[in-house]
Amino acid sequence: CLLIIDFGSQVTQLIARRLREQNVYCEIHPYQNVTDAMLADLTPKAVILSGGPDSVTRGGSPRAPDSLWTMGIPVLGICYGQQTMMQQLGGLVEGGKISGGGGTAEFGRAKVTSAGTLDLLDGWFSDGPEQVWMSHGDHVSKIAPGFEVYGTSPNAPFAIIADASRHYYGVQFHPEVHHTPRGAKLYENFVRLAGFKGGWTMDAYRDIAIAKIREQVGDKQVICGLSGGVDSSVTAALLHEAIGDQLTCVFVDHGLLRLNEADDVVAMFRDNMNLKVIYADEKELFLGALEGQSDPETKRKIIGGLFIDVFQKYANEIEGAEFLAQGTLYPDVIESVSFSGGPSVTIKSHHNVGGLPEKMGLKLVEPLRELFKDEVRALGRELGLPASFIGRHPFPGPGLAIRCPGEITREKLDILRQADAVYIDQIRKHGLYDEIWQAFVAILPVRTVGVMGDGRTYDFACALRAVTSVDGMTADYYPFSHDFLGETATRIINEVAGINRVTYDITSKPPGTIEWE
Ligand code: XMP
Repeated sequence: CLLIIDFGSQVTQLIARRLREQNVYCEIHPYQNVTDAMLADLTPKAVILSGGPDSVTRGGSPRAPDSLWTMGIPVLGICYGQQTMMQQLGGLVEGGKISGGGGTAEFGRAKVTSAGTLDLLDGWFSDGPEQVWMSHGDHVSKIAPGFEVYGTSPNAPFAIIADASRHYYGVQFHPEVHHTPRGAKLYENFVRLAGFKGGWTMDAYRDIAIAKIREQVGDKQVICGLSGGVDSSVTAALLHEAIGDQLTCVFVDHGLLRLNEADDVVAMFRDNMNLKVIYADEKELFLGALEGQSDPETKRKIIGGLFIDVFQKYANEIEGAEFLAQGTLYPDVIESVSFSGGPSVTIKSHHNVGGLPEKMGLKLVEPLRELFKDEVRALGRELGLPASFIGRHPFPGPGLAIRCPGEITREKLDILRQADAVYIDQIRKHGLYDEIWQAFVAILPVRTVGVMGDGRTYDFACALRAVTSVDGMTADYYPFSHDFLGETATRIINEVAGINRVTYDITSKPPGTIEWE
């Protein structure tokens, strides 16, 4: 396999994803677990050292095990990975100033210029400098013996370095992210020169996932939280295929769903897919507990906690139920990873990961934990799910709660549902639904003054959000035409009582997140 040593970058899994796109099998292990003994046992064919938030200039900072450098296998170091490689092999790394003139820290787009020919760079620099995504405070200031420079950027004289004879490569930027448009090519080159043939497919993934589920579950009963989104639909379909009617789905109506969603989803799964589905009407429980709460993390934790309680309640009624299946995806895991002691920083507590109590009465089945949304869609197609399921925009577990910044009230939720329905209707009518990764309305915790007819209004403002994305990790706002925006604003204000002002959110991710909370 190809081993990725994770030093805690927010985007480590994107490396794995780039490798899966090349049909290469890889494993990610946190640096703490990668010991000399572990390396000897795993015998990887190549290693990638990820980025990470630490500084190699700090004593005791994470490193690759020393035995890695005696194994004679290709190694690619990215950002922090490049820096630790340099430090361990005899180069020098210095801290850069983050602000103020003359600093060498770099965050954002940069251009790298070629400084030599290298097998890793096949297909690069054919049209001049390459755009890359930088995100670093420290930088390499002296390269280790045997290394040479193959690419430079204004702030990173050692943007690409290599010891070609040993197949050691280091890049200061992140080739795995979308903002390095030709980054995938570097991974393609790396796996090729490391001798991988690329026989790993989604079909293989599906068979392995089914075998794993059967092994984990045995003859026990499983309950699965169904939301009607792509993730839980694929999870349910996969489990159904693996264990048939040992699966019971529970659809929790937490009162934070979109218009008509509960009816649509339950009908769809019972009728179309022939699954056992329990409809759990828990609107009062959730909305009651959220009353008066305005802090985003508190809201997320309340919802996450109640979800587990509700599942347990229903699980208790299903004889032999020992497992809870969830459609947790990799972006949910990575952004919550500090809960499980991993090295990266918490951005949000995703309800399906962060809210889990230590002593849950149910064991977890999370067959999508390593996948990104589009890979889940590919798996869904592999499982024969209808295109209408697979094409749905993602909808977060905490639902409308995180699209209603500040305190949630039933009044605001009703207004939000109406506005959201009009907005999505507009997007569908204009044929834009499939071009957009996710679109929704957020109702703002502010009333503004307006004039309608001859009267004064004092109603809520809302924000429209629409983004394009490949995996939810990074996103750009969608460039609607002014005509579309104007028409949609008019429709929302005319058709939805309680809203008198419509804004469009033009923040990309980063620095924003897709959801408002
Ligand atoms: P953010 O807002 O973090 O969202 O940029 C990235 C993607 O994840 C979805 N999301 C969630 N999904 N439980 C989920 O199942 C959650 O708690 C959650 N929070 C955000 C979000 O809709 C977007 O697709």
